[in-house]
Amino acid sequence: MGVEVRVEGLTKSFGRQAVWSDVTLTLPAGEISVLLGPSGTGKSVFLKTLVGLLEPDRGSVWVGDQDLPRLRERELYEVRKLFGVLFQDGALFGSMNIYDNVAFPLREHTRRPEREIRQIVTEKLDMVGLLGAEKKLPAEVSGGMRKRAGLARALVLNPQIVLFDEPDSGLDPVRTAYLNQLIIDLNQQTDATFLIVTHDINTARTVPDNIGLIYHGHLAMFGPREMLLSSEEPVVRQFLNAQRIGPIGMTEEKDADELAAERRSGQELPPLPPIPRQLRPSNGLPRRAERTPGQWCRENGVMPPIGSFV
Ligand SMILES: Nc1ncnc2c1ncn2[C@@H]1O[C@H](COP(=O)(O)OP(=O)(O)O)[C@@H](O)[C@H]1O
Ligand SMILES: [Mg+2]
Repeated sequence: MGVEVRVEGLTKSFGRQAVWSDVTLTLPAGEISVLLGPSGTGKSVFLKTLVGLLEPDRGSVWVGDQDLPRLRERELYEVRKLFGVLFQDGALFGSMNIYDNVAFPLREHTRRPEREIRQIVTEKLDMVGLLGAEKKLPAEVSGGMRKRAGLARALVLNPQIVLFDEPDSGLDPVRTAYLNQLIIDLNQQTDATFLIVTHDINTARTVPDNIGLIYHGHLAMFGPREMLLSSEEPVVRQFLNAQRIGPIGMTEEKDADELAAERRSGQELPPLPPIPRQLRPSNGLPRRAERTPGQWCRENGVMPPIGSFV
């Protein structure tokens, strides 16, 4: 069963460069959360801070009753075993074949005999659809296969929390659709708590239970998918609907003059598109506990965007 991760007042800078400050959010146990944000806003830094690879200036990351930034090296080493991380580039060892890459954490962190290792590696490769590719080197397979090999490696110690750094970057739309389905299925099979950093709006709209948006050094909003998708908050609305009108400009923030000009020119935001259904687990897997957007709005007393539910 996955565990809850509670982030409180987390703040990170490098020297005089503030990355983000006062980030507070809870990743609910067993749920899928997505973190969005323009490039360079510190999403990868956030994931690395969660697992204790980077030290925050202030704040807490609670996993159970342990606050990661306060732990000593030895305790941190133990807690880290709860995490599986899929780094942005897959981070495979180029000189090792896929099998040895996936087996690596087991050989490094456990004393399991090779017979058991074979069983576990085979199971994980099967989960991500890579049986038969064991002997291939990372350079000999496609980008999508490298991502899936990285994912098998992230899952090999049966993590309670899985962090994905842009699992869909560099993949075409069809491969992204397969990967998203795989993520939904793996969440159903493992019950682990997932956090996915992505740029892909379609992924953000259809995969997670919760969405967060980092913007301008802060967490602009974090909450259930339906809430963010129906949000009127300009930054959230602009980003999730890939719109040009709004506070985010080509380089960073638009300045006050630009925004005033936008208002004067009478450009109106188009209506919010309908909220899509969340992807469901493939046939044969049990259903996840699901809320329809309409249910969610009723339960939370939120007005749905007009004509929005399909
Ligand atoms: N180890 C580091 N030392 C100094 N600066 C860093 C380090 N890692 C990231 N940064 C800086 O932090 C900012 C956020 O980077 P990153 O988390 O990679 O952004 P994102 O993943 O959202 O595109 C960038 O300005 C980057 O240069
Ligand atoms: Mg990044």
